[in-house]
Amino acid sequence: MRRTWAAGATALPVRSTVIAATAAVPYPFQVGIASGEPDASSVVLWTRLAPSPLNADGHGGMANTDVTVDWQVSTDDLFTTLVASGSVTATYATAHSVHVIAGGLNADSDYYYRFRAQGHLSPVGRTRTTPALGTSGRDLVMAFTSCAHYEEGYFTVYRRLAEDNPGLVLHLGDYIYEYGATSGRPRTHAGTTEIVTLADYRRRYAQYKSDRISRPRMRSRRGSSYRTTTRWRTTTPTWCARTVLQR
Ligand SMILES: [Fe+2]
Repeated sequence: MRRTWAAGATALPVRSTVIAATAAVPYPFQVGIASGEPDASSVVLWTRLAPSPLNADGHGGMANTDVTVDWQVSTDDLFTTLVASGSVTATYATAHSVHVIAGGLNADSDYYYRFRAQGHLSPVGRTRTTPALGTSGRDLVMAFTSCAHYEEGYFTVYRRLAEDNPGLVLHLGDYIYEYGATSGRPRTHAGTTEIVTLADYRRRYAQYKSDRISRPRMRSRRGSSYRTTTRWRTTTPTWCARTVLQR
């Protein structure tokens, strides 16, 4: 059955006064979407609402209010056959990040997913479950990245990576760098000093993620997201990076 899930405010069901009151806000999916931690029946879907990702307070331009975020998983990128869906509350305390465990999926299968919030639709992402335990499944194309320094160049490799449609992308380390802005480089970190606080980390991740999604998105209506799995660390400190990623 074809499901209509329009982005416009007039097409939205009246779910809450929050959505109804904020339907005209700027596009909140500036730092993209992602999926990861797959197993044979579920994946984790992630997004974060941040219409102004580089705000120094780390809240990406979001007000101190809860926001309902809807999500859908489908077997096709037009979302004609939904296999999972739901709604979650994105809170100010967690910088309006969202982690959804989309369950009830088939093993070793491809799916598409998307979010809706504040009258806006996210890009559409692709994801994939693992083979069932004890089975070999389909061929798996894996990619890994590391040492991604925003200031030292452009992340065109992520666009190329997405074109290969890998089944799994592993970020082995240095997903971001903590250094403050340095002059004379191709690009500049937001913030003049080394990042230390939670707000610093939120902004830094937002800056890197903003870049990662923008380039592949220009080439594909399906969006740029690709499957990722556990990102262990940046450079230092490990515990802090992990904490931020969980938020
Ligand atoms: Fe490195």
